[in-house]
Amino acid sequence: MATAKIAPSMLSSDFANLASEAERMVRLGADWLHMDIMCRHFVPNLTIGAPVIQSLRKHTKAYLDCHLMVTNPSDYVEPFGKAGASGFTFHIEVARDNWQELIQSIRSKGMRPGVSLRPGTPVEDVFPLVEAENPVELVLVMTVEPGFGGQKFMPEMMDKVRTLRKKYPSLDIEVDGGLGPSTIDVAASAGANCIVAGSSIFGAADPGEVISVLRKSVVESQNKN
Ligand code: DX5
Ligand code: ZN
Repeated sequence: MATAKIAPSMLSSDFANLASEAERMVRLGADWLHMDIMCRHFVPNLTIGAPVIQSLRKHTKAYLDCHLMVTNPSDYVEPFGKAGASGFTFHIEVARDNWQELIQSIRSKGMRPGVSLRPGTPVEDVFPLVEAENPVELVLVMTVEPGFGGQKFMPEMMDKVRTLRKKYPSLDIEVDGGLGPSTIDVAASAGANCIVAGSSIFGAADPGEVISVLRKSVVESQNKN
């Protein structure tokens, strides 16, 4: 079974204190740290690149779940591999012609390949990547338009999660955008097991409590099925 992974989105952390924020999240029960890499061409925002991952890696052993919202993911594979990224999730919308080579090179650099899709992209578009001989190991279903934290969860994306879970019982299915205590149950019961949450964790008075609420919902949904 795909186990529950709670991944605080470091986009909502204090970037000036990234190392201590990472340490705090791990101490509070985070399984993964979600790192949002954005270039201004794929999304209207700009965040961090490989040098920051490399610096952070010196301070933590945590799994760095990198979500590449960039137009040329293949340019980032080598630097991210060297920097110590753990997971490398690219967007299907910019990899329609080269996803096979991309998956291959991600794996050859010691990272775990994943694919993400924007809200407007049909879920069928990622089936070939999951079914390939050299497949992705994670599908990230965006539940907001990528670009910014703090947006409203799109429940209509749960059809994609249900479809994926039905087809691929042990796949890591990640949801990202607007997740928190008020939206987790619908995502968990649809079959998501990797939960990204930025503002709901970092904005909470007790972030550790939010992490445990998210985990509990995933575990309980899995136990029902
Ligand atoms: C949005 C990013 C998300 C974002 C989620 O493009 O991919 O990871 O940080 O933030 P919240 O949980 O606040 O919606
Ligand atoms: Zn993300």
